[in-house]
Amino acid sequence: MGEETSVELEVARETWVTRMGFVFAVWGSMTGLGNVWNWPFKVSVLGGGPFVLIYLIMLLLVGIPVVLTEFVLGSTFRRGFPGALKRIHPLGEFLGWFCLVNTAILTAFYTVLIGYAAVYAGYAITGLPLDGVMGPSTFTDQPGFFVNMLMSPIVLVGLIVVWLVVFIIDYFGTRGIERSVMILFPLMWIIIIFMAFWGLAQPNAYQGLDFYLNPDVEQFLNPNMWSTAVSLSFFKLSAGMGALTAYASYLPRRGELTNSAVTTSLLDTTFAFTAGMAVFTIAATAGFLGGGGVGFAFVAWPGGMVIPGGNILGFVFFLMMVFLGVTSAISLVEAIVTAVMDKFGWPRSKAVIVITLILFLGGVPFTLWMELPDPMGAGDVVWGLYLLDIFDYYVENFGLVLVTLFMMIIMAWVWGGAKILDAANEAGDFKLPSWYKWVVKVISPVGIIIALAFIIINGFYAVGSIMEFTAPLIWIAICIVFAAILWRMKGVD
Ligand code: PHE
Repeated sequence: MGEETSVELEVARETWVTRMGFVFAVWGSMTGLGNVWNWPFKVSVLGGGPFVLIYLIMLLLVGIPVVLTEFVLGSTFRRGFPGALKRIHPLGEFLGWFCLVNTAILTAFYTVLIGYAAVYAGYAITGLPLDGVMGPSTFTDQPGFFVNMLMSPIVLVGLIVVWLVVFIIDYFGTRGIERSVMILFPLMWIIIIFMAFWGLAQPNAYQGLDFYLNPDVEQFLNPNMWSTAVSLSFFKLSAGMGALTAYASYLPRRGELTNSAVTTSLLDTTFAFTAGMAVFTIAATAGFLGGGGVGFAFVAWPGGMVIPGGNILGFVFFLMMVFLGVTSAISLVEAIVTAVMDKFGWPRSKAVIVITLILFLGGVPFTLWMELPDPMGAGDVVWGLYLLDIFDYYVENFGLVLVTLFMMIIMAWVWGGAKILDAANEAGDFKLPSWYKWVVKVISPVGIIIALAFIIINGFYAVGSIMEFTAPLIWIAICIVFAAILWRMKGVD
């Protein structure tokens, strides 16, 4: 019935076909590469089991309220991030575009990482060696294979394949997204559950679990744990990127919000937790524990696949990574496409063609295969990965958190915490109590401010060279300049 009302009110805007379509799409966005590349690694390094608990607490206090607020923003104003925030405060539009420039940078290198996974899947199933400076290496010959890949145009080929898929899905709008996620959702779960069981059945499983979850209770008192839990939860929940707002803007009037926010957030955490069990038990079996981030997923883990059936296991794992990545990438693209369609009144086809082209070109520098001397003097580095590491750091740690903080202030203070509550409760499966407005007004923002303070302090300690010092300035200049241009451009909305 909600759909009928929305049709009356606004004929032009597309909506999700089913309620589950929205929920699945959001889940697909949340559950991404971060589940296999960020989460397991961070949990294992940052105190194991206790970190999971800290993460859950921050999820309840900060993450879920933020998700809900983004849902309310999109569904109330039925616009992408800048258009919706503009309706609350004129400066909101600037913040919206600032966020989306940050989103664009993330999309540019995120798709490159999916490209890596696609290359790995291809080489795993065929068993072919990749030649390069490290000599011919198959996908288990690590780090030879990884280095050869970074120094070869093959990543660009992977990137092109990824963009073709993303383009086709997004071209068909909410329908394309809904259909693809409905198919990929069960597939990803089947794969990860199978892998977790398989891993747990191996003789060394215990070692893997110990490495993953072994409690380091002192970590409870370490403020960095708490701040990392906040930034990680934002990245995992796709918050502060305009993606959730865009998806919620396609909800029919009075679409369900509260249950959707809680279910998707918890589902994502469950998937991440399961993925951690799968990767560490299998890595332990293969005798490969340790290594972090990109190194873990693309070096340590495949390096251990010299076990019977390793080729198949590797293929399935990397194929799943491609699925995880694609269902997240479409939401990133959609965040930008929605905002551009809203502001300039472009038809979807035009917006999707222009935006995917720009984002694809923006990704090319992250595939560059030539070497350059490391400004920090640690020998030579490959351009693409070097740039990726730098931008990843700022986009993930600062961009997301900063945008989320401002969004929460605009929504909960300029617009009103009680209004957020009313909007969420209007059609919510369950109603939030009135004190909940203090969660969105005070608890979440304060949590974010404290987290940001620690991230900045750590950032200062991490600064070690001119490049690292100039990188944040370059990053923030790009965001501000492009945001200002887009903000001042004449639109139709
Ligand atoms: N949540 C995704 C992941 O875990 C990343 C992402 C962030 C996707 C923001 C969309 C928007 O990998």
